[in-house]
Amino acid sequence: KQERTFIAIKPDGVQRGLVSEIIGRFEKKGYKLVGMKMINPTKAQAEEHYADLSSKPFFNGLVKYFTSGAVVCLVFEGKGVIKGGRVLVGATNPSDANPGSIRGDFCVDISRNLIHGSDGPESAKAEISMWFKDSEITQWNFIT
Ligand code: CMP
Repeated sequence: KQERTFIAIKPDGVQRGLVSEIIGRFEKKGYKLVGMKMINPTKAQAEEHYADLSSKPFFNGLVKYFTSGAVVCLVFEGKGVIKGGRVLVGATNPSDANPGSIRGDFCVDISRNLIHGSDGPESAKAEISMWFKDSEITQWNFIT
């Protein structure tokens, strides 16, 4: 089924020069990049994005981390991209992430885990509409 997911390259991913590596893995897998922008998230945006985690002890640190620098916001489209995107990203805790996944290959710390990916259809829908206006999602047109 064609679907869309929201992916964010967090400030550590940008600062470590991993933007092209991360986008490249999604592109080469065969997912279609339909939305892309770079922002400095506000505290309010980070709190909204991670609202489900507001009762966790690491919430304040997470908001601080996410707002600490530039973030690349992406929307990828493709067959099974929500689940498949999470396979590319790897387990939340980089210590559990398989080699070959982005977190498995590039990081070691759960509080500096490089990248976010929507964890299901509802969160994908909510996160895409939180970070992107409809008009910022592109259509690919092919010359025939
Ligand atoms: P992400 O996939 O963006 O979804 C929730 C985020 O919370 C997760 O990646 C981590 O960045 C962060 N997180 C989850 N568990 C912990 C933890 N135990 N300590 C610190 N940060 C965490």
